[in-house]
Amino acid sequence: MEIDHMHSAISFLQGHANLGMGSWHLGQGRRSRDEEKAALLTGLQLGLSVIDTAEMYGDGLSEELIGDVLRDWPPSRPRPFLVSKVLPMHASRKGVVRAFEASAHKLGVDCIDLYLLHWRGNMPLAETVAAFEDLKTQGKIRHWGVSNFDTDDMQELWQVPGGRNCVVNQVLYNVFSRGIEYDLLPWCQKNGVTVMAYCPLGHGELIEHSLLAEIGDRHGVSASVVALAWALRSGKVLAIPESGSEDHIRDNARALQLKLGPEELALIDAASPPPRFKQPLDIL
Ligand SMILES: NC(=O)c1ccc[n+]([C@@H]2O[C@H](COP(=O)([O-])OP(=O)(O)OC[C@H]3O[C@@H](n4cnc5c(N)ncnc54)[C@H](OP(=O)(O)O)[C@@H]3O)[C@@H](O)[C@H]2O)c1
Repeated sequence: MEIDHMHSAISFLQGHANLGMGSWHLGQGRRSRDEEKAALLTGLQLGLSVIDTAEMYGDGLSEELIGDVLRDWPPSRPRPFLVSKVLPMHASRKGVVRAFEASAHKLGVDCIDLYLLHWRGNMPLAETVAAFEDLKTQGKIRHWGVSNFDTDDMQELWQVPGGRNCVVNQVLYNVFSRGIEYDLLPWCQKNGVTVMAYCPLGHGELIEHSLLAEIGDRHGVSASVVALAWALRSGKVLAIPESGSEDHIRDNARALQLKLGPEELALIDAASPPPRFKQPLDIL
């Protein structure tokens, strides 16, 4: 599939599309392993080459499933871009290294493209950043970032040695949860941090939303595709919808081709107005 220019404009992604795949509930028996593997492999074939996982997901089962998928992915094809996360309770200098080694082993790789702190815990940020920087120097990770950081957390991170090397903040963002547009999204864009939108389908709640379905009808696509195209509309946000279904992943990939018009964006604004004051970060 040809990747639209607008959807590969994020520099550290180096040409990977900014629509990827989540995996929180995968590898845990919701569907058969073969079905979930086929779904992820289909996504990779369609250009959804960023795969998001975490040591927390199924206590490593999600990473193991992805490891299985990678073994079935032909080495001649472009290598997927892997994202994993360390739990805050493991985010000490030594704990990060141990968590990284376990994740890399389950994924069957020597290097994780992007390694995130899953959310902020009690560990001093300076310690976690130092551990991330060590892993980067050793070539074990290419980039690092954070998740569930609000604007004040990002400002604090900016004061930590090496903190400005953070490339991503992964946060909840979708049509009906757009509080970050008030200050966090502009702050991240101004400081070169890419926002990675989790729950872009509202954890499944947007897949049948009437307005999104109505807009989708005009384009012959589903409400999910409209929700994803909306999240990607600036070309600067990366979205990671999750699905264990090949059909749903085929559906979601259509968002790479859909550009919503001003009138459609206005309809969405009327149903879910942009924030006019600071709202605390939504977290799932
Ligand atoms: N950093 C964090 O703290 C954090 C928190 C939450 C999530 N995440 C990441 O973000 C990813 C996505 O978030 P999420 O899983 O919470 O929610 P989501 O992507 O908004 O929604 C996922 C749900 O939508 C369904 N779905 C997906 N595509 C569909 C389609 N085309 N048609 C119909 N149903 C569809 C999926 O079911 P099917 O499997 O049946 O398709 C699943 O139930 C996670 O997997 C995880 O990687 C990160």
